[in-house]
This record gives sequence, structure tokens and C-alpha cells, in this order.
Amino acid sequence: MGLTREQVLAALSRVALPDGGDLAASDMVRALTVEGGAVRFVIEVDPARAAQMEPVRAAAEAAVRALPGAASVAVAMTAHTQKAAPDLKPRAEPQGPRPVPGIDRIVAIASGKGGVGKSTVAANLAVALAAEGRRVGLLDADVYGPSQPRMLGISGRPGSPDGKTMTPLANHGVALMSLGLLMAEGEAVVWRGPMLMGAIQQMLFQVDWGPRDILIVDMPPGTGDAQLTLAQKTPLTGAIVVSTPQDIALLDARKGIDMFRKLKVPILGMIENMAVHVCPNCGHTEHIFGQGGVRAEAAKLGVPVLAELPLHIDIRTTSDAGTPIVVAQPASPQARAFRDLARGLIAGGMA
Ligand SMILES: Nc1ncnc2c1ncn2[C@@H]1O[C@H](COP(=O)(O)OP(=O)(O)OP(=O)(O)O)[C@@H](O)[C@H]1O
Ligand SMILES: [Mg+2]
Repeated sequence: MGLTREQVLAALSRVALPDGGDLAASDMVRALTVEGGAVRFVIEVDPARAAQMEPVRAAAEAAVRALPGAASVAVAMTAHTQKAAPDLKPRAEPQGPRPVPGIDRIVAIASGKGGVGKSTVAANLAVALAAEGRRVGLLDADVYGPSQPRMLGISGRPGSPDGKTMTPLANHGVALMSLGLLMAEGEAVVWRGPMLMGAIQQMLFQVDWGPRDILIVDMPPGTGDAQLTLAQKTPLTGAIVVSTPQDIALLDARKGIDMFRKLKVPILGMIENMAVHVCPNCGHTEHIFGQGGVRAEAAKLGVPVLAELPLHIDIRTTSDAGTPIVVAQPASPQARAFRDLARGLIAGGMA
């Protein structure tokens, strides 16, 4: 993603010097920094040759500017009298994704379309993994409509003993961080892109997650800033894309998968939610949103189907009550579907 140092050096290797050789190999390039599309470096020359080198400087600037992704390019020329000039190379490339301390895996629960059951899956998967003995964190990245505090039955404000990092709140064996814990329920939030990115970054890096086998991230719907921020700030184990079997949801799911692929985030698989409706009175089953749609789409995209979850009223009521069905009715077939999902992820090394 973005322009790399290597690409810049490759471009500079195509800039010839007046007396043979190329600029990249010359040891005249100093203090090269590549940050996003901004490239800066210095060409250090012998003062006696400064005038002769100006066309080289101009050629170098043009060569870098021509690279796709180069937004601003600044090339300065300095003439040093001393022979051994200090090496001003930056210590390390800044930016880029960095791991969250104490967390082994980060799995995003995503969807193209809203309301397909991401938060329900995230909550039940989190408690199911905890029931299997995994150390689980849940990050509610749906900054527009955080639903995890309600689904996990958590209220109150996260503390900050050191004034720098926040301590997540826990229930059902899962540690939760959500903006829902920091604002009054029902409060509308209008986020501008940078604020949203800052909020997600803070919930990743300024929360004392402690040692966790897995951090599950409940994403907002769609393919926006939140997804981009998450993928750019920290390496993800992968994304799980939730969809209903409906054509329209599948179309959006495909967009979501496409975005994660572009961001080089592995797709762990798809989950079909609300696959079949089970009547709580008579047990009659009905494919309300169609049948087999997710399986066919997943096959087309070459990703596995990790679970097919039924549409059942108890899944909704237990979530609304703050005790996910995996906790409230662990022996029910609905809960078993989530537990099988959790076990499958553990078996595959993904959780
Ligand atoms: N399998 C299911 N059976 C019954 N109800 C379900 C099921 N999955 C989700 N629901 C209900 O559907 C509604 C939407 O689910 P949920 O909030 O999990 O979706 P979401 O994808 O997170 O939505 P958003 O895009 O708004 O974040 C909720 O009321 C939830 O309880
Ligand atoms: Mg949600």
C-alpha cells in the first residue's frame, strides 16, 4: 500500500550520473523518507560539482514524481566540504501497521450491508470462544451505533488508573471496549473521518487489553474509514464476512471481500446468518431469505463458509437482554451453531 522506499530507490537507480553509474548506487542520497505519498531526500554533492549536479537533482525529482502514488516530492541538494558526511538515514520507516501489545490475533467481523447480524455474531462468537477457554477481547468499532455494551450486558465507564490507558470492562468472560461505554446511550455521534480514525486507533492502542488470544472487532457496515483504519494500523489475522442469503446482501458482501483483498487482509470465510427460520412453536423451518446463496457466492469467491446460523427469535431476545444465546441457552441448537463456529476457528488456528 502506498509508495515504498524500494520503489523510490528503484526510480533513482534509473537516474544516470554525469561520470557514469546511477544515483541510487552513488551513496549521495541522504535522509530519504517516504511517508504516504510524500517523498523527501537530500543529494549530497562535492561543492566543486554542485552546478554540474543540478540536472541530476531535477531528473531525480522528475523520476520520483512520475511514480504512481507520489504526491509531493522534495529533493534538496547540499554541498558538504567534509569528506565523511554524516549518515542521515532515518532509523526506521515510521507509519505502517503495528501489532497491539498483548494480543495474538485480531479478527474483524464485517459485512457490506447493515443489519445482517455482525454484532450478534461478534458477541456470541466472543462468549463461545471464552467458554472454550480462550482469552477474548471484543472491540466495538461501530462508532456510529455501538451495540456491544447492550449485547454483552455491560454498562459503566472504563477506568484509567494511569490516566493514559483505559481498562476494558468485562462480562461473560469477554473484555469489551466500545465507544458506547464512553457516551450516553442514544446519543447521536457525527464523526468526521480523522476523528473516527483516531477513535479506533485509541481503542486499539490506548486500552490495556492484557494478554489475549484473540481480539474480535465488530465493524460498522460497509467499506469505509473504519475498515481502512483498522487494516492500516494493525496487522489483522483476517476478516469474517457476514451475509444473509439475499442477493442484495451478497452483492454488498462481495464488495466487502473485495475491499479486504485490496487491503491485503486475509478472508477467513463467510458466515450465512438468518439462513433458515425455525418456528419456536412448532419447529417448522423456512428459508425466509432464500437458500444456498452464501454457499454459492463463497464457492465463487473461493472462500470457506464458516457457519450457517438460523434465524431464531431467541437469538435476538437474548442479545437484547445482554446475555447472548450461547450463555443464556447453551444447549440449544442455536447456541450450538455458534459454539461449532468457535471450535472450528480454534481448530484452524484462527482463534
Ligand atoms: N440469527 C438471528 N436470529 C434472530 N435475530 C437475529 C439474528 N441475527 C441478528 N438478529 C437480530 O437482527 C438485528 C440486527 O442484528 P445485528 O445488530 O447483529 O446486525 P449488524 O450487522 O451488527 O447491524 P449493523 O450493521 O447495524 O451494525 C438485531 O436485532 C439482532 O438481534
Ligand atoms: Mg452492528
